[in-house]
Amino acid sequence: MPKGELPDLTFSASLSRRLEDAAAIMRSHRGFVRIFSHYDPDGIGSAAVACQMVKNLGLGFQATLSHKLDDAMLDEIRSSTPPEHLLLFTDMGSSKVSLLDEFPNSVIVIDHHQPEKEGQRIIHLNPHLFGIDGAREASASTFSIGLAVTLDKANWKMVGPALAGAVGDRQNLGGFRGYNEDLVIAAAGRELVKLETGPNLKGRTIYDSMLEHPEPYFRGITGRKRETSRLVKWLGLEKETQLNQLDEEKKRFLTSICAMRLLRQGATPEATGDLVMTRYWIHDWEMYADQLSSLFNSCSRQGEQGLGLALALGDKAALEKAMEHERVHREFILQNLRELEVEPPKAMKNIQYFKTAEVNYAGVLAGLGALYFFDNSKPTFGAAEKDGALHLSARAPRSLVKAGLNLGLACKSAAEKVSGAGGGHDIAAGATFPVDAEKKFLKELDRIVGEQLGN
Ligand code: C5P
Repeated sequence: MPKGELPDLTFSASLSRRLEDAAAIMRSHRGFVRIFSHYDPDGIGSAAVACQMVKNLGLGFQATLSHKLDDAMLDEIRSSTPPEHLLLFTDMGSSKVSLLDEFPNSVIVIDHHQPEKEGQRIIHLNPHLFGIDGAREASASTFSIGLAVTLDKANWKMVGPALAGAVGDRQNLGGFRGYNEDLVIAAAGRELVKLETGPNLKGRTIYDSMLEHPEPYFRGITGRKRETSRLVKWLGLEKETQLNQLDEEKKRFLTSICAMRLLRQGATPEATGDLVMTRYWIHDWEMYADQLSSLFNSCSRQGEQGLGLALALGDKAALEKAMEHERVHREFILQNLRELEVEPPKAMKNIQYFKTAEVNYAGVLAGLGALYFFDNSKPTFGAAEKDGALHLSARAPRSLVKAGLNLGLACKSAAEKVSGAGGGHDIAAGATFPVDAEKKFLKELDRIVGEQLGN
């Protein structure tokens, strides 16, 4: 890189061509743009990148965040959108390529879920189509940055929300890799992001971290004032002690005690390994990518994804409201995790399963439980009922994926057996099906998972 020049992302030849195709369509577009995105942090991050890049082109736009992109929604979009509008899908669309190919509109899809196929008419930007692992190496929001900076270098400023999106999909666990790592290195070179490695304790004080933060989750401690006070005292610390007040030796002691507790409660190796973590400080936001991600997540889980998007686009007034949502969000999670300690998921031969009241929280609880204290020899399925349907979220430790588990395929096949729909990644997936098919679905799921794991 010549002296004085800012670092950039480099792309493979095929990805570069596809990005240029997408950029050419956007540059020549003169009408309105409709942006559709998933409601979760990666959806919020990618929608924000998309909104910003469209705004920088001087185009009018409308963004819609939703739980899923199904055939009914596609019908609705088709009938309500004039053919001259450009359609931009982020964090969704790759499983609907056949239908999108038949739209009269120009369509760009930026998604990282397993693609149905490449497509003919649409411009399809999905890491899987370019030899990049969309589950771990690129999220929809980090991939969206690729297009955004191809269009205009000014869009680099959206790298913070993009990284927050990737953190939301847990792609930072064990450190960003592949495409994401290249993005972080370039962003750090541009002084947009700073990397810091240390114990993953996110609260203002060590006591706050252990008491209020669901990650890392210490069984019997987190969410309990008396027990947290006792542990902090035993560690020789005050309630007010902050992490940055400890010398390196004390930090190491604290980290080893935390690691020992996690190992004893049956946490996965990835959860224990991530006790020491690289965090990404976003200068423009004056917060870490994981903090921004947690704010997005709190908004979306409480049905306030629009607020999350406003926050991602830099609306300062949205920050205070989002922080209040985060407080409520954490309390709900901690209460449910405490309950799951007392009443763990029901074990079947190859899977474990629990039900919860809030449909938006099944995935969060399944993910945290699976990481920190459930039986990690089986994948976890959390379900909640809404409008006569069961919405199920599936999560698993990496060891099971290495052993052959693919939750996305398992959820898809089992759901199709009971007139439902499902899919997702090998490590995190979901399904929706009629409530009365619960038993049949679980039996089929248990069978498929057993087959995948060769049990
Ligand atoms: O809802 P949840 O966060 O558990 O979803 C996990 C993953 O499974 C997401 O990537 C989502 O797109 C996918 N999923 C799916 N079909 C469903 C439900 C979830 O493909 N019916």
